[in-house]
Amino acid sequence: MSDKPLKLVILISGNGSNLQAIIDTLNSEQINAEITAVISNKEGAYGLERAKQNNITTQVLDHKQYPNRAAYDLELQKCIDNFNPDLVILAGFMRILTDDFVLHYAGKIINIHPSLLPKYPGLHTHKQAIENSDLEHGSTVHFVIPELDAGPTIAQSSLEIQASDDATSLAARVQNLEHKLYPLVVRWFAEGKIELRDGTVYYSGKKLATNGIQIVADQVLLPN
Ligand code: GRF
Repeated sequence: MSDKPLKLVILISGNGSNLQAIIDTLNSEQINAEITAVISNKEGAYGLERAKQNNITTQVLDHKQYPNRAAYDLELQKCIDNFNPDLVILAGFMRILTDDFVLHYAGKIINIHPSLLPKYPGLHTHKQAIENSDLEHGSTVHFVIPELDAGPTIAQSSLEIQASDDATSLAARVQNLEHKLYPLVVRWFAEGKIELRDGTVYYSGKKLATNGIQIVADQVLLPN
């Protein structure tokens, strides 16, 4: 494996707490990766401040300035490719992406979604988990494919829903999980452990089950 750091481009639209978790982990742990740019479709996204505070290049590409989704995604693609990333990380990037864009980054674009996929793709995941009286909930990191929130799963971190939970408390608890989960997946990529082959995810050459690597109560259950 080469010694060159894994180059990351991170796309955001808002708060960027997952971005912050990745920044903090790269700053404090030995991981051979660097964030080469943070790109936002929203000018006021707080995540941009987080990036600037860490001397990370930022760019704003406002979708409202483009006539349609295809035109925007093409410009976004150009912008990302200027940084020549090894991995594109969606971290609260609130846009539906065109097939062409997604296919351009096949096997090197990942997303974090606040549910145990395939349960609850789309929005309002915490509310749905509570309304359905689910016993558990969590977050999923997956490769991005054209179908929304449907790509091959790399890892899932789960928790038990408490009787006292509402959608707000659950969202906060799931975000805490995410802040460990996403940096861990970035570490695995930097170590060259994760690979997508013919729609299947491999960890260190071992084929993963469709629900990926499970993380339960901070225990990471790696494949045997
Ligand atoms: C996260 O909960 C993630 O699962 C979802 O968007 C949220 C982004 O939060 N895709 P933040 O901007 O990282 O704080």
